[in-house]
Amino acid sequence: MRKRNASLTEEEPRGEAAAAAGEKRSAMGKTFRRRSVWWRLRRLFLALMLLYVFIPVIVKLCPSIQAKLVFLNFVRVPYFIDLKRPLDQGLNHTHNFYLEPEPGVRVGVWHTVPAHMWRDAQNKDGHWFESSLGSAQSAILYLHGNAGTRGGDHRVQLYKVLSALGFHVIAFDYRGWGDSDGSPSELSMTSDALFIYHWLKVRLNKAPLYVWGHSLGTGVATNVVRRLCDRDSPPDALILESPFTNIREEAKSHPFSMVYRFLPGFDWFFLDTISANDIYFASDDNVNHISCPVLILHAEDDAVVPFHLGKKLYHAASRSQSLSGHKVQFVPFDSSLSYKHKFIYRSPELAHILSNFLETSLPTH
Ligand SMILES: *[C@@H]1O[C@H](CO)[C@@H](O)[C@H](O)[C@H]1NC(C)=O
Repeated sequence: MRKRNASLTEEEPRGEAAAAAGEKRSAMGKTFRRRSVWWRLRRLFLALMLLYVFIPVIVKLCPSIQAKLVFLNFVRVPYFIDLKRPLDQGLNHTHNFYLEPEPGVRVGVWHTVPAHMWRDAQNKDGHWFESSLGSAQSAILYLHGNAGTRGGDHRVQLYKVLSALGFHVIAFDYRGWGDSDGSPSELSMTSDALFIYHWLKVRLNKAPLYVWGHSLGTGVATNVVRRLCDRDSPPDALILESPFTNIREEAKSHPFSMVYRFLPGFDWFFLDTISANDIYFASDDNVNHISCPVLILHAEDDAVVPFHLGKKLYHAASRSQSLSGHKVQFVPFDSSLSYKHKFIYRSPELAHILSNFLETSLPTH
């Protein structure tokens, strides 16, 4: 387009015949320009059709697309790490092993011992790591969010912080994530987490066991803790980092749905299709069945799970009957700290926040 116009002006028409030809050309140029506007409009129209008609209809017809977007388990960032070698991520006191929550389904697990034990942990086998739980002071079951694996950097950094504070940290990939078998669902994430919880619980010699969820993992965490409370065996505390109220409200606020939020029928096209996959992660309902101390950590500048959803969950927890008599605490992190969705582990206050909330003394570094 642009080339053609350029060649029209570049040519110097000479003589009358040439002038006439020039006029003819410029008339052609005008129709051309008119056409180009028309073509541009057509392109815009097609793009809008694709965005606002084609994609919503495809999503409605194939609701499994929505499940894939919620779980993002196929996004294995960072791609080239060997989950069998936590040492490559700077974890020299972490053991990689596999458990079978269900016959034929193997899930990959990392056990990081407290940092002060790192020398003892060198060249030790699975048996040593497993029996170290018997003399543990406390342990954390870490439930990660969607996308990536247990080897994701912000997760690894948190294991380092928590192990430096003296916790044993158990992190794993739900089935469908990382090197674990199978494919994901809310139900299987929850049952895998419950299985690992029990595996850990029976190996701890009455030491406190805390459940820590991040992002989508907070939805798994409240599911798990609700079930534990239903069986009258709550964990010693529940820690929710960057949580949301339920998946519908989260999906509505997620940057992915920005262009659709105001589309009439948004709920029907995009939110009902999430529910059609049996995905709810109803933490705002779960808190009405949970009875153990709850700590919520949320950064004000979180763009993935907005701050107001964490706050809203806190308000739901504060009103909960089952939580009355238990500590429910909300800790916001100012925007100026730039912790966003993944970097609360960077807070130098974390040791203080945890020791205050758990009412124990933790080594500060
Ligand atoms: C091993 O890890 C511990 C705990 O993170 C750290 O303090 C120590 O410096 C590491 N040792 C080596 C040799 O990298």
